[in-house]
Amino acid sequence: MVVLEPGYTPIGYVQATLPRGQGYAEIAWVIGRKWQGKGYATRAVRLLVEHLEQRGVQALVAHIHPCHDASQAIARSLGMHRTDTVVDGEQRWQRCLENNKPLPAN
Ligand SMILES: CC(C)(COP(=O)(O)OP(=O)(O)OC[C@H]1O[C@@H](n2cnc3c(N)ncnc32)[C@H](O)[C@@H]1OP(=O)(O)O)[C@@H](O)C(=O)NCCC(=O)NCCS
Repeated sequence: MVVLEPGYTPIGYVQATLPRGQGYAEIAWVIGRKWQGKGYATRAVRLLVEHLEQRGVQALVAHIHPCHDASQAIARSLGMHRTDTVVDGEQRWQRCLENNKPLPAN
C-alpha cells in the first residue's frame, strides 16, 4: 500500500508478482486520481524495485497500454525498455537488474 503521512491515508498501491523459480518480478502501480501527478508512483515504485533487488530478483517486467504516458514515463525512469511483445493490448517492458548497479537518477 502507498500511504501518505500524517495519518497514513491510503492513496494507491504498488505490486510485484514473482513466479516461482523464474527470477523475475512482474510489477504494476496504481495511484488514486486525486493524488496523481505529484511523484508518488515514481517514489513508491523505486522503493519496491530497491526491495526486489535486495531480494535477488534478476529482472523486471511490466505490461503497459501504449496510450498510457504516465506509466511509460515511470517504466523509463526505472531503466526499463519497451519490447515488441504485446499481451492483451499492453506492451511488455523489461529490464535486467545487475548487481550493485543503482537505478538511473530520477
Ligand atoms: C500511472 C499512475 C500510477 C501514475 O501515478 P502518479 O503518482 O501520478 O505518477 P508520478 O506523479 O510519479 O509521475 C510519473 C510520470 O508520469 C508523468 N505523468 C503523470 N501524469 C501524467 C499524465 N496525465 N500524462 C502524461 N504524463 C504524466 C509524470 O510527469 C512523470 O514523468 P516524469 O518522471 O518524466 O516527469 C497513475 O496515473 C494511475 O494509477 N493510473 C491508473 C492505473 C494504471 O494505469 N496503472 C498502470 C498499471 S502498470
